[in-house]
Formats: sequence, structure tokens, C-alpha cells
Amino acid sequence: MKLHEFRSRFPILERRVYVNSCSQGALSTDVDEAMRAYMTSWHESGSPWEMWVEQVERLRARFAASIGAGAGEIAVMPSASAGINAVASALDFSGPRSQVVIGDFEFPTMAQVWLAQERRGASVRRARASSTSPDTLPLDAYDAVIDERTLMVPATHVCFRNGHKSDIAGLVRLSHDRGAYVFLDDYQRTGSGPIDVHALGVDFMVTGCLKYLLAAAGIGFLYVRRELIERFEPTVTGWFGRINPFAFRIDELDWPAGANRFESGTPPVPNAYAALAALELLDRVGYDVVGTQVERLVARYASAACEAGFLVRTPGASDRRGPLVVVQSLDAPALVQKLAGRGIIASCRGNGLRVSFHAYNTEADVDAVIGALVAESALLERAVGIKN
Ligand SMILES: Cc1ncc(COP(=O)(O)O)c(C=O)c1O
Repeated sequence: MKLHEFRSRFPILERRVYVNSCSQGALSTDVDEAMRAYMTSWHESGSPWEMWVEQVERLRARFAASIGAGAGEIAVMPSASAGINAVASALDFSGPRSQVVIGDFEFPTMAQVWLAQERRGASVRRARASSTSPDTLPLDAYDAVIDERTLMVPATHVCFRNGHKSDIAGLVRLSHDRGAYVFLDDYQRTGSGPIDVHALGVDFMVTGCLKYLLAAAGIGFLYVRRELIERFEPTVTGWFGRINPFAFRIDELDWPAGANRFESGTPPVPNAYAALAALELLDRVGYDVVGTQVERLVARYASAACEAGFLVRTPGASDRRGPLVVVQSLDAPALVQKLAGRGIIASCRGNGLRVSFHAYNTEADVDAVIGALVAESALLERAVGIKN
């Protein structure tokens, strides 16, 4: 599918400049129809659970293929948080490896789940952002804290606050050399370009569907590397984490060989309809095509913002940034409102204005945002000297 055809499936783009996929992806007619199909199936068949569970399995397989994994390596979760919790609950912190090393750029959930494990014997250490360049988190920061006591290194791929993209391949090499697992949080990147989890070498990964995967809230995925799955028995569990949920056993726990052992309750069926339609749509465009378009728009926006003299917090190197570019504002909530008044939907975290791109965006969108920022430049921090 060509990009202009892809774009035409998102009605909001006729009325708005939508640069907020880092928060919520735009709604396509495909996802809209899929959600209606779920409602119709409920109206007409009452309780077609077999069909609904089958839909979840189709989603599992489709997502697995999209990241280069096997379906048996994927758990379908209600959120990324649920996936992280399921893994954390399976770990034993009583041995010599009880440390979890988290970087300064993690999404709160990733820190909070591990901090909660401190009651179970874990200790959380921090890899700190550079003191001279607070929006960069070099591998050296991890090098300084990962050691033979480290069990887990959770790491966000792209930071939700400043758009910084971490060197995950480097982090995997460093962590594996020292015997620690790497747990990738890919939520701020999945859907915005290709990924091959096996080539990347991460041990675990979570992501969810409501951002660049262009679906609804309430559904996400946990990937667990094949060789690791059977080492873990989560204590956060439930009937959908069994070999056959419909065996209805209350006398013992069994563990499927696949990553579905990390699941717990009834799957989020309506959201699975939405997510499958969105993944099918993305497949029709192709992740390589999506990634190239996103990179092109990000480069255009970042360099125009620099040229306009704004303080761009996201790294300038193309391999150190993803689909999100953050520009420092003097009052970002007010700036978001001003942009909304100009028909532009963006978001902020603190005083960072978040503008993010998907393959449905165009160069005209970039130029519209830059034009609006120039018009509202009283609300923007100016760059001093050379950045990035
Ligand atoms: C990087 C990242 N990780 C995790 C989450 C939270 O995911 P969930 O609400 O599905 O637990 C978000 C949501 O914004 C995120 O941006």
C-alpha cells in the first residue's frame, strides 16, 4: 500500500495535523471497522468465545512475525506494565544476583515495578544520564553499574520524555558479557519501523498497541526469548497462563512451553480486534517503508527546529533518535494549547514539547508545525551554542 493511501485511512488527518502518535496513534477506518466487527459478533452470536480466542491467536502470530519472533515467544497482555510484572514475579532475588539496573530515561512503570521488587530482595541501581548533556544516556553509564550482581537491565528503546534512542545492541553485549538479562521497553518505537528481536538479542521485550501500533488502549505484548521461557514460573498468574485454561483445574499449576505462561486472565478481546486490524494495515505498508518515512520526517523537523533556533533536546544523530522529537518550551502546556488552536495535536512532558511522526504524516505536516512554532516562538526556549 502506498503512503498516500495509508494516510487516507485516517479521517482525523483531513481535519488536523496529528503529530501525537507517541501518546495515541490516530484511528484508521480499518480499526474502526474491526471494532464494529467485534460488536457485531457479540450482537449476533452472543458468546462466540472460540472465535474470539482464535482472533487473539491470530494477533499473537501476526505480532510475532512483525518483530521477527516465533508465536510461542509472545504473551498477549493487557498492558506493558502487566508484562513487566509477570516477568518480575518469576525472578528470584535471593541469590548473588539481585540487582536491577535502570537508566534515567525509563518510563515510570519500568522503574516502579522493579522498585516494588525491593521488598522481595531486589536492589535497584541507576545508570545516570550525562551530567553535561542531561538528554543523553551513554553506554558508559551502564558500564559503570552493571556487574556480577546484576540480574536484570530494563531499558527503554526510545525515551518518552526526550526522544533519546538507546544503543540496545551495545547494552545487550555489555549486559550479557556480565551475565545479566536485558528487558527492552519498545513502547515508544514499535510500529514506527522494523525490528528483529532475535538479531537485537534482547531477552525480554514489552510493548503496547496504542501508540505507533495504531490501535486501542488495553492490549500489549511480552516477548520472551525462546531459550529462557521454561526457566520461569511467574507468581503473577491465572487460568490463561495454563496449558489448557479450559481444563479448569484447581489442584495444580501446569506451565505451557510458550510465553503464554506469562498470561493471566481472560484476554482483551475487543482490543485484539483493533490491534489485529492495525497490524494488518501496517503490514500492507511494510515496516521498512514506515521507518524510512518516519526518519525522513524526523530529520526534516529536527533540522528545521534547530535552524529556527529552538532548543532541540532529542539527539541529532539519526541512530540515537526514533519517531519522537522534543523541543524545549518555556511553558509547554500553554504551547500545546496554542498548537491545538492552530489545528495541531501534539503533547508535552514537563516543558518538553513532543512532536512525533508516523508514516501517515507528510512533509506538509512538518512544515505546518514549524510554521506554528515560529509564530508561537515566545513560548520556546532558544538554543545557546551548539547542541547535541
Ligand atoms: C515507554 C513506555 N513504556 C511503558 C508505557 C506504559 O505502558 P502500559 O500503560 O501499557 O503499562 C508507556 C506508556 O506511555 C511508555 O511510553
